[in-house]
Amino acid sequence: MSDDPQSKPFPPLSLEEVAQLLPGTGEIMASVGIAWWKCAYAARGGNWELAAYFARRVRGLQRKLARTRPKYADDLVAFETEHLTAVLTALGAHNGPAFERAYASATDAANELHVKWAKPYIRWVLPDEPPKDLDLELDR
Ligand code: HEM
Repeated sequence: MSDDPQSKPFPPLSLEEVAQLLPGTGEIMASVGIAWWKCAYAARGGNWELAAYFARRVRGLQRKLARTRPKYADDLVAFETEHLTAVLTALGAHNGPAFERAYASATDAANELHVKWAKPYIRWVLPDEPPKDLDLELDR
């Protein structure tokens, strides 16, 4: 609290206002994009645990988004069951080719959803560069 006698306290926030102040779809999706990028390179490096960690991070972020922005909930649940589960299964089996297939079709589905939600200009592509802040070959 400020000692400034001129400053007025803010009125208490309603639950709806608190919900509006939570990270928005763009902020969550920016984090999803980073985790998705790191997931691919961890898998390609053979650090399967790290790749699965990032796939679960995407799942967790999207589950939160489904709660804060329920209009996306059905699409997020379908994306998880139809795509993220296959990615996680391939990672659990250390199956690189199955991972690449599931990852590519999940990425296509995500970009189709961007079109569906009136953002056709958001077309996610895997960066050429691997992340430099993590050991991607830990399991080797
Ligand atoms: C691995 C899957 C996905 C990736 C990598 C991805 C990536 C991204 C990225 C990078 C953005 C732009 C973020 C920014 O503003 O900086 C974005 C936006 C968006 N994504 Fe995704 N996305 C994925 C899945 C999904 C799914 C399943 C949905 C389902 C509804 C979705 C809906 C949206 C929407 C609506 C926006 C626009 C955000 C806004 O309105 O502010 N995305 N996505």
